[in-house]
Amino acid sequence: MIIAITNQKGGVGKTTTALNISAALAFMGNRILLIDTDPQAHSTLSVLHDPTAYSRSLYDVLMRPDEKFESIVATSTIPGLDIALSKISMAKLEPSLLGEIDGHYRLKDVLEPVRSKYHHIVIDTPPTLGLITLNSLVAATHILIPIQSSYLCLEGTDDLLETIDKVKRVANPDLQILGILITLHDKRTNISRDVVRRIRKVFGNLVFKTFISKSVKLEESPAYKESIFTYAPQSVGALQYRKIAEEIIDRAKN
Ligand SMILES: Nc1ncnc2c1ncn2[C@@H]1O[C@H](COP(=O)(O)OP(=O)(O)OP(=O)(O)O)[C@@H](O)[C@H]1O
Ligand SMILES: [Mg+2]
Repeated sequence: MIIAITNQKGGVGKTTTALNISAALAFMGNRILLIDTDPQAHSTLSVLHDPTAYSRSLYDVLMRPDEKFESIVATSTIPGLDIALSKISMAKLEPSLLGEIDGHYRLKDVLEPVRSKYHHIVIDTPPTLGLITLNSLVAATHILIPIQSSYLCLEGTDDLLETIDKVKRVANPDLQILGILITLHDKRTNISRDVVRRIRKVFGNLVFKTFISKSVKLEESPAYKESIFTYAPQSVGALQYRKIAEEIIDRAKN
């Protein structure tokens, strides 16, 4: 699978989900590549001891497809997980690719030769529906949509679904929604219960059974360059992300 973790809303748990799902799949014995496409580079900064040691990023291979993709792939601090690096230079990508005839296909094209080296590839995307996210949706086989358990959670989902439909029609007919993941959930509040009801009403069985609760441990682990599975293996967050990885594998079989 090539799973794009996408929602143009900011701060809904895309990066936290990309990191911990990648780590969970890697702990199950899979070789995983995490591709950081976000100019904020939060995934990259969370899994490299010294990100300043690398001068190049995904930007360089997407702009010059004859460059070797492997040159921007690093071994991460998480066992079994490689990372394709982002840097702030990724912010130059959209203006640079504007008007290029293959502008939406660059990521798909550069991934072709490395795909078979990994069991699964996970793509962390920025909080926009711009060209970077479109490249990710064109390259992906599946999309996972984290939705924050909050009052305005469904705001913008119409635009996202429309974009997915457009990508399917024009560029990637086999793209499937793997699931909707409810994140930052606080089951004690009435509003959270109401939010879950509303999300279920819109998305039905696409919603994963497991929710991700609000958890300080999940917030802390990136600062230590660890996934939740080594930072706090007994925590609720570890249990929940492990269960989501299992649900993902189950869904991929069907
Ligand atoms: N389940 C959680 N419990 C507590 N904090 C969380 C949880 N998930 C994410 N966070 C925190 O919330 C913030 C936003 O999460 P994250 O960076 O994963 O979202 P994002 O969708 O990738 O954001 P952006 O749109 O900026 O890329 C981060 O500080 C993160 O540590
Ligand atoms: Mg992010």
